[in-house]
Amino acid sequence: MDRKEFLSQVGFGVAALLVPVCIGGVSSCSKESTTTSTPSNVDFTLDVSTGALAANGGYLVSNGVIVARTTSGSFIAVSAACTHEGTNVYYSSSNNNFICPNHGAKFSTTGAVTQGPASKSLTQYKTTLTGTSLRVYS
Ligand code: FES
Repeated sequence: MDRKEFLSQVGFGVAALLVPVCIGGVSSCSKESTTTSTPSNVDFTLDVSTGALAANGGYLVSNGVIVARTTSGSFIAVSAACTHEGTNVYYSSSNNNFICPNHGAKFSTTGAVTQGPASKSLTQYKTTLTGTSLRVYS
């Protein structure tokens, strides 16, 4: 087997191994996570003494809801799925807004669209802090 023949066979073998991974699980080939629907009847609690919400500017996604702690220390919560095509938004503490990494839509802290292509607001949820327990609810 000469070098060219070897590389051809090895290259095809590697490609053959990688293709089924992307075909079999589209989400494994996508860098953005998605949530398929806007959660309703939301009511859950989070411990904000540890993890992402322990510091101002942190955020996390739980139960299809993105919960953020602003730089001033208040808690905000909106549906995580971008209303354009469902990619999970992230919280930008420096801009105090939610941004979709897929096509760049932006939402205010109340979920209102501030930049397209999304045209529908994110659903805002209520938050109540009791000690270190944050209740997020509809
Ligand atoms: S999926 Fe969010 S802007 Fe397109």
